[in-house]
Amino acid sequence: MKKFTRRELIDKWFKFYTDKKHVIIPSASIVPENDPSVLFTTAGMHPLVPYLLGQPHPKGKRLCDLQKCVRTGDIDEVGDESHLTFFEMLGNWSLGDYFKEQMIPWSYEFLTSKEYLGIDKDKLAVTVFAGNDIAPRDDLSAKLWEAQGIKKENIYYLKDNWWILGSGIGPCGPDSEMFIDTGKPKCSPHCNPSCDCGKFLELWNDVFMEYKVNPDKSIEKLAHPNVDTGMGLERTLCKLNGYKSAYETEIFAPIIKYLENISGKTYENNQFTSSFRIIADHLRAATFIIGDEQGVSPSNLGQGYVLRRLIRRAIRHLKILGISNGHLGEIAKMYIDYFKQDYPELNVNSQKIIEELNKEEEKFLKTIELGNREFEKVLNGIERKNQFMSKDANYIPETTISGKSAFRLYDTFGFPIELTAEMAKERGYTVDMEGFNEAFRQHQELARTTNAGVFKGGLADDSIWTTRLHTACHLLLAGLRKLFGKQVEQKGSNITSERLRFDFNFDRKLTDEEVKEIEDFVNTAINRAIPVERIEMPFAEAKNKGAYGVLKAQDNDIVSIYKIGDVDFQICGGPHAKNTSELIDFKIIKQEAVSSGIRRIKAVINTKNV
Ligand code: ALA
Repeated sequence: MKKFTRRELIDKWFKFYTDKKHVIIPSASIVPENDPSVLFTTAGMHPLVPYLLGQPHPKGKRLCDLQKCVRTGDIDEVGDESHLTFFEMLGNWSLGDYFKEQMIPWSYEFLTSKEYLGIDKDKLAVTVFAGNDIAPRDDLSAKLWEAQGIKKENIYYLKDNWWILGSGIGPCGPDSEMFIDTGKPKCSPHCNPSCDCGKFLELWNDVFMEYKVNPDKSIEKLAHPNVDTGMGLERTLCKLNGYKSAYETEIFAPIIKYLENISGKTYENNQFTSSFRIIADHLRAATFIIGDEQGVSPSNLGQGYVLRRLIRRAIRHLKILGISNGHLGEIAKMYIDYFKQDYPELNVNSQKIIEELNKEEEKFLKTIELGNREFEKVLNGIERKNQFMSKDANYIPETTISGKSAFRLYDTFGFPIELTAEMAKERGYTVDMEGFNEAFRQHQELARTTNAGVFKGGLADDSIWTTRLHTACHLLLAGLRKLFGKQVEQKGSNITSERLRFDFNFDRKLTDEEVKEIEDFVNTAINRAIPVERIEMPFAEAKNKGAYGVLKAQDNDIVSIYKIGDVDFQICGGPHAKNTSELIDFKIIKQEAVSSGIRRIKAVINTKNV
């Protein structure tokens, strides 16, 4: 197989698709705007949902991109050969344009053509949808693959070949996945590409989106079918270059080398391999999350909490490698340099990334001291009990730290279990690892339920109240700009079905009178029952007409604008209420500082009926 660098793979992807009249769109933010159903963008299609559902996209019907994604569901698996929390996804879209008949031959061409990936066709295996009560078996895709030259025995029908976002709501449909067959013998007569025995390595996924699941779980056919494809960049780079793990690719290799140099330990040493990988993965994810356009800082909530976990886990593993403090910034700098060509925001935010990492490291070091004290308390407790019981001749002194205590050290004080075990050993104690694992498992289950809760909350994402709160955000910004001037800009927003959260640049707390004035401004607009109109025009014209918007676009790009009478005129993808009166009323419930120069307002609507 041909070998590729990351750059070559990206360039080939874009050449292939621009030759086929696709427009390259920039990666969207890693934090989905106006979508409370998930914390992070988990797939390339995520930012395109409104367009898959039928709204015209300003760049047309054929698009391709390289999207930054974060999936943290398997964070505890990171350290093995394949799991990553941050990854890049190459994608292409047909928004009601071409479908299977075109996509499958293109997929075949990209994978096998000498000009592109040049994979031997007999080393490819593909899967197609086996059918269920929503959609029939996808015989057409199988036929198309066969017509390309994929052998019948390398085409598998699977029931699981169905793609939808994690929330279980939105556009969806059957998919067809492509794999490299490594030539290993089948692990059983039932062995197929969904098996993780290592015979089949996944490369790419073509989703044929013909359906949508509504928030009430009902299923409808979409007005027009779409194609959404996704190729995991790290995974593909790893497979094409014949590496065992993504961590051996050029993306991570320099970081691993750096860690080897400062620790004096080797990546190949099995005792440390997973620590090397965790540090490399988590600090890359942290760099991208802090450096995102919607920039997140470590906190105990939502995206900020995930970020905190990533950084602290990386620091714990730096300690396991025996690395002293103060290296996070250097590692982040290496990533920023490597990725800045594709993600200029990393360069723009480089100082912030380094500062936030250093601040979090300092904070965590303080927790470690508290953890040390907790550790001593646990040992003292055991020693006191042993002393007390020593009068009993039959008593065997306790020499084990309970799993529960070890888990508390891990969870509350961020103590690595390896560190607890090592310190215990020095003092002649052991740790009840089984008890620890049990506590850990229970905690994971709880976390999973909580995560599911996040998704469940997201049932409201399409709901009418989320949409109305989005309109309230526009009115709020208009009010802020009227009161404080046009230099006030939106710096982030997040909406659940209950409230809106809105960040803007301002350097002090609003007075009670100012809060009242903003509320009155929004409520006046609500009481005037102003229709909310959606208009399309070229970006340059929108700017000339004074449209507000942080979106970057070319002058000729057609953009969507929402106009609320004489109150607001904003470039925005929507969706919005049809009329301001739907909001009933508006109230600010909280204001706080996010960081220096950035304030946050939380507000609710429809307060009279709650
Ligand atoms: N949305 C599809 C995926 O993420 C392409 O696999």
